[in-house]
Amino acid sequence: MNIILLGPPGAGKGTQAKLIEERHGMKQLSTGDMLRAAVAAGTETGRRAKEIMDRGDLVPDDVVVGIIADRLDAPDVKKGFILDGFPRNTVQAGALDTMLAGKGLKLNAVIEMKVDDEALVERITGRYTCAKCGKGYHDRFEKPKVDGICDACGSTQFTRRADDTEKTVRDRLAVYNKQTAPLVAYYGGRGTLVTIDGMADIADVTGQIEDVLKRV
Ligand code: AP5
Ligand code: MG
Ligand code: ZN
Repeated sequence: MNIILLGPPGAGKGTQAKLIEERHGMKQLSTGDMLRAAVAAGTETGRRAKEIMDRGDLVPDDVVVGIIADRLDAPDVKKGFILDGFPRNTVQAGALDTMLAGKGLKLNAVIEMKVDDEALVERITGRYTCAKCGKGYHDRFEKPKVDGICDACGSTQFTRRADDTEKTVRDRLAVYNKQTAPLVAYYGGRGTLVTIDGMADIADVTGQIEDVLKRV
């Protein structure tokens, strides 16, 4: 099955994509994670992307379309994919249509996760991640069972994203509303769009997504 998780920064795309991956074996394809890996590795793409990401703007379409085109051909996406953070505007959505048509693949669902702006800011400014295994946490909503120790791997090292400040979150939200929100109409017109309540707690949102996956 191939799906898109569509939603503003902090909607829970990454959190839910990882849970779907564990349950269904589809592969999470997060352009944000791939770009951050490129920044950390100091590649040419990473050098181009860092400053743009730090101010919350979109990295050029050709860069992210190229990244996704490479990943769609990899053997680990045989069971399907969960696009997280791509496409982010109608140019990228059009490029995705062309790529999928060329490979004979189809989109089973586009799941829009709706969350209020103030909740998004609180989620993002409280977010942190295990530096070793990448498991995501939140200062209030998703704490490790033992304070300061990762549940998944036992590491005591955690990181916060450079773009997770209140100012940058508001800029990212403005970019989302202007450039990405039109994708709701883009996919709505084709009957592949399902809107879910992203304000619910994490387990409840997972349940809503499972219901969608059962239906498509
Ligand atoms: P990207 O990494 O995609 O960031 P984003 O879209 O801003 O989304 P986030 O990762 O911040 O949020 P999320 O929805 O994954 O939330 P999460 O599950 O972590 O992109 C970063 C940058 O890269 C962009 O600004 C751009 O510069 C560039 N980029 C990436 N893709 C691009 C593209 N296609 N084109 C151009 N540029 C691109 O949850 C957030 C927090 O809330 C966590 O702490 C979590 O524990 C908590 N939480 C999750 N769900 C709930 C819940 N239901 N209740 C309470 N807390 C919750
Ligand atoms: Mg994410
Ligand atoms: Zn860990």
